[in-house]
Amino acid sequence: MLKLCYSPCSGHLTRPFSYQIVFLVHTNGMEDHKITFENKIILAPMVRVGTLPMRLLALEYGADLVYSEELVDLKLIKCFRTVNRVLQTVDFIDPSDGSVIFRTCDREKNKVILQLGTSCEKRAVLVGKLVQNDVAALDINMGCPKEFSVKGGMGVALLSQQEKAMAILKSLVEHLKIPITCKIRILPTIEETIEIVKKFASAGVAAVAIHARMKDERPQHDPHPDFIKAVVKAVRIPIIANGGSKEIEKHSDIIKFRNKCAANSVMIARAAQNNVSIFKPDGVLLPVDDVIIRYLRICVDFDNTASNTKYCVQSMIKDQQETARGRLFLNCQTLHQICSIWNLGDYCYEKQLEFQKKGNFGRRDVTPGFIPNDVIKEPETKKSKVIDICDEDIFERNVAFYRSNYIKDPDLPKSILHNYAKKNNIPMPIYETFQKDKLFRTKLKYNGKRYASTFWEKNKKYAEQGAALVCILFIGLVSEESLIKNGSILK
Ligand code: FNR
Repeated sequence: MLKLCYSPCSGHLTRPFSYQIVFLVHTNGMEDHKITFENKIILAPMVRVGTLPMRLLALEYGADLVYSEELVDLKLIKCFRTVNRVLQTVDFIDPSDGSVIFRTCDREKNKVILQLGTSCEKRAVLVGKLVQNDVAALDINMGCPKEFSVKGGMGVALLSQQEKAMAILKSLVEHLKIPITCKIRILPTIEETIEIVKKFASAGVAAVAIHARMKDERPQHDPHPDFIKAVVKAVRIPIIANGGSKEIEKHSDIIKFRNKCAANSVMIARAAQNNVSIFKPDGVLLPVDDVIIRYLRICVDFDNTASNTKYCVQSMIKDQQETARGRLFLNCQTLHQICSIWNLGDYCYEKQLEFQKKGNFGRRDVTPGFIPNDVIKEPETKKSKVIDICDEDIFERNVAFYRSNYIKDPDLPKSILHNYAKKNNIPMPIYETFQKDKLFRTKLKYNGKRYASTFWEKNKKYAEQGAALVCILFIGLVSEESLIKNGSILK
């Protein structure tokens, strides 16, 4: 349910007589909640950085609203929504490999804006309908200058295809119950920039975020706050000023940049990527290690992937890469390894065990049921030869390889098997991996017999480990009981 009302804008410093658009969003049985874009300090959308842990930490330190990383419509459209009862999150999952494309939770429910990369109003509306009960607003990226976006007619390409941009915004405003915003770059002149923002305002958007650089300008170039200032004067919708991080080292610099733009909302990207405690209203920036420790705890609590966690931590310790700790960090592959550097190894281990005990989630929920188990394609062949891996003389079990089961144990199933083979002078096993969409299964030949797991893994490495696990189970190097206990065998 959407109620739309206009109210005089109190506390508005730059446009005392303007009006504020207030959206009342129904929140699934919870109280109706207002979301406005006035007087807000906001975490900007950032690919890979703006995942759930960073958004929650930004809110914890004092950000008023948080944008997700840009998610492309074609990716989201395939996803299904599921409530993850173990993590208490809502997950949007890609059924082709079980990966989580967007994860959110109650803590950010009325504060998270999902940013969409799109070039098509129909797809945008479909995605909007899929997510609108779980996010506070939907934003369209009209500022990304990257080749991938522009070639697909997304991002900054929409600023030169304004009819398309308008069609997208109008359809979303018409069909969705949540506010729609867009994030743009400035155009070559102030006049053109004002004109386009007026146009978008007429489509009914709730706010426009403006990155104060032109499409060919890079982060090292100085921004143009005067463009934003002129737009703020000329339009009545909230304008969110962005692009000031080059000069932002502490909280008061955020306010300085906002004032330079005469906007009353401001959006921060790189300064927050470096140290997200920049949002603390008391202005006391925390030591980066304190921020990392808090960030890692949230990553563990929400089972963030190791690769995403590593990417974000890396941007916080950029200047430490040549130190011993920096090098240790660069070699990390698991969340547990990363956490151990900041003395959170035990915390990570205990949590991962706890999640596992609580039951099914993640890959296991989606992979086996979605893929027919009989015919698969051989990988990397243009002819897509069909192969039946379910031969009669193959030993199969529905066993999943969970990396978290081996956190404290350096011997993965493959090394257990290889060590055993070496000790007993048996030739090394031979692995043959098959792929279906983005999922993998491996057939293993060892000592004249063949072994495979019927469980589809998300990558080749895991598939090989899964097959090795089946093999060591059959030859008695690991007990069935232990695999049931650690969740590897599906009951
Ligand atoms: C970005 N930016 C960006 N913008 C956007 O609209 N969608 C996105 O997904 C991303 N991704 C992204 C990733 C990273 C790592 C960075 C540093 C930036 C641009 C960003 O939101 C912002 O517009 C610019 O960085 C300028 O703001 P700052 O950095 O000066 O505060």
